[in-house]
Amino acid sequence: MRGKFIVLEGIDGAGKSTHVEFIAQSIRESHGVQVLVTREPGGTPLAEKIRGLVLHEPMDVETEVLLVTAARRDHVARVIRPALEAGQWVVCDRFVDSTRAYQGGGGGVSLGWIDELSESATSGLSPDRVYLFDAPAALAAQRRGGRGQAEDRFEAQDLAYFERVRDVYLNQQRLFSEASFLVIDSSMSVSRIQNLLLIDIATL
Ligand code: TYD
Repeated sequence: MRGKFIVLEGIDGAGKSTHVEFIAQSIRESHGVQVLVTREPGGTPLAEKIRGLVLHEPMDVETEVLLVTAARRDHVARVIRPALEAGQWVVCDRFVDSTRAYQGGGGGVSLGWIDELSESATSGLSPDRVYLFDAPAALAAQRRGGRGQAEDRFEAQDLAYFERVRDVYLNQQRLFSEASFLVIDSSMSVSRIQNLLLIDIATL
């Protein structure tokens, strides 16, 4: 049986990375399946190289779209699809919705163009479940500050950029069926979020 494709989304600092391993482990326990954890941009040697470029080299936003989409193509073709077809579940930190939100919302690129490119690059692969970790841009920035890590090109953006990213995340949710998209309020405690995730994962 084909595995399920689970994606985590949210603005930088909204808490995705706190929950990724918890989600993978809960799926293993709840469904007795093998789980592959991966991320975008990245997940293959080529795509990890592209990640380094996109996060650190100056470029215009259309180039960002083309590079993250090329990385995604490689990742889907060589890692995600083969895993799903072998019956593994895949938990991916970011996918197409990140491009819509960051390059579309933050950068102002046409969502129609992003959707068209994404559709052909992924051959129409879409997640069975998207967990959107939602937080106001100011709260997320505060949390990022607390991590004390070096900033990349995106983390260096201002609050207005992250509010536009967040808007696209929240608005596109209405375009998806309620069944595939779950918005999680990241201002809740970690244990409360984990309880919600456990309940949801059991239904997958
Ligand atoms: P992220 O996955 O949050 O990693 P970390 O927690 O290590 O910083 O960072 C990846 C960055 O890439 C994030 O700022 C969003 C950006 N990004 C895009 O702009 N477009 C995309 O399509 C993807 C996948 C990521």
